[in-house]
Amino acid sequence: MATQHAFAGGTVNPSNAVIAYFSRTGENYAVGEIEIGNTANVAAEITRRTGAPTIEITPVEPYPHVYDEAVAQATAERKGHARPPFTLQGDTAAHAALEHASTVFLGYPIWWSDMPMPVYTFLESRDWTGVTIAPFCTHEGSGLADTASSIARITGTTVLDGLELRGATAQYDVVAVSSSVKDWLMAIRR
Ligand SMILES: Cc1cc2nc3c(=O)[nH]c(=O)nc-3n(C[C@H](O)[C@H](O)[C@H](O)COP(=O)(O)O)c2cc1C
Repeated sequence: MATQHAFAGGTVNPSNAVIAYFSRTGENYAVGEIEIGNTANVAAEITRRTGAPTIEITPVEPYPHVYDEAVAQATAERKGHARPPFTLQGDTAAHAALEHASTVFLGYPIWWSDMPMPVYTFLESRDWTGVTIAPFCTHEGSGLADTASSIARITGTTVLDGLELRGATAQYDVVAVSSSVKDWLMAIRR
């Protein structure tokens, strides 16, 4: 029998929630060389606390390892309204769960006060009818910026109050990540 977790207005069966996130590894601002992305760390904590299956949105062409090169590519993509192709990495159960999810925890880093373009590709690739999106991001000062309204505009669905964390905190402060995720999950269940 699936474990039930308290969440979102009562009790949610984890098979109805999915975590989908984008995160970049390599050389990054404020954290140096990282092997697990900042947003990935937050996603892992949400997984730990909800038991929801996890899917990673992975660009078909990985972003450059070198920070300045990644910035240059992201800048060009944003200016050109690019929609880079992606694949979804996760086990079979996670893929199946995404098709039936009623809540999607959507995670991404803030790039130029916006979402990375592959997250746009992902959002535009699906029908979001009946799905509630709970956004979470990591950043180095911009917070969520306008990303929650962008998500609502693209999907036409309900977007809950988002969680934002500094990238360096997400990378190095396990206790802060844990308590922030805990508080957020409590807050959005009301
Ligand atoms: C291309 C690029 C653009 C960025 N733009 C912003 C920005 O506009 N505002 C901000 O606060 N942080 C910005 N950052 C910092 C990232 O949001 C931050 O390092 C984040 O934690 C990275 O998460 P990740 O490791 O999951 O990819 C940018 C980083 C990159 C690589």
